[in-house]
Amino acid sequence: MLSDLHYRDTGCAQWTAAVVAHLSQLRPRPAFCVLAGDLTEDGAPGQLTAVKRAFWGLPFPVHALPGNHDCDLEGSFENYRAVYGPTLNYRFSVAGREFLVLDSTEGRKVYRARVSRESLVWLEGQLASLPRERPVTLFTHLPLGKNWLRPVNAEAVIRLFAHHRLEGVFSGHWHGLTQTRRESSVLVTGRCASRWRRNHDGSDEKGYLLCAVRSGRLSHRFISVGRPGEEGLRLASLMPGHPGLSAGCEPGTNSAPSAGTHG
Ligand SMILES: [Fe+2]
Repeated sequence: MLSDLHYRDTGCAQWTAAVVAHLSQLRPRPAFCVLAGDLTEDGAPGQLTAVKRAFWGLPFPVHALPGNHDCDLEGSFENYRAVYGPTLNYRFSVAGREFLVLDSTEGRKVYRARVSRESLVWLEGQLASLPRERPVTLFTHLPLGKNWLRPVNAEAVIRLFAHHRLEGVFSGHWHGLTQTRRESSVLVTGRCASRWRRNHDGSDEKGYLLCAVRSGRLSHRFISVGRPGEEGLRLASLMPGHPGLSAGCEPGTNSAPSAGTHG
């Protein structure tokens, strides 16, 4: 899961290319990638299209969901829908596991947002048709765990999973590593992948969360793409024929700070 690119202008193009190049070098190749909102800064058509062009070139499926910054300045998601499709809530399956992508936004609201009735009704309908023993992972932009930026009805969303095997909830919005445990579920936020926006956990490293399932258990770790300003160097190091990936940059093996609790 990668979130909070906050793409705003062509100044973000090289950084975004470096992030995509980093993902494309991952081995084994990921089954898919989820962009968990705030793809852009202002939800402008040019910003939305630039992100889509960059990520949809990856050799694996990419799924997007909107963040509060992906609607336009009037609070409309029309631009977003025109680029990423009309459906904001959707579900897909991979290897016997279910993945639910839920729109958690209320326009551009940052704090005390409410997950819409439409999203809740959709979620309820999906869960009704889902076998209870099947592992489920949820992606939202606004965090559902213990976080002051969580939606006011975050608990109502979590309660809908009471009779299901919710393994993880992965979210953006809070630009920092956090992890809250709720019975057998883990509720996580990741650091941002933005060139210019800062992390809220005081860290400089930008990147994404790499998830894996081993022996039936879902795990995740932060993978650093680096610090903005180094993207030219990193792109060069990822070029075919280059002597090798620079130290600390090799995908999947760079230092991955363990997820800590926060707030
Ligand atoms: Fe953000």
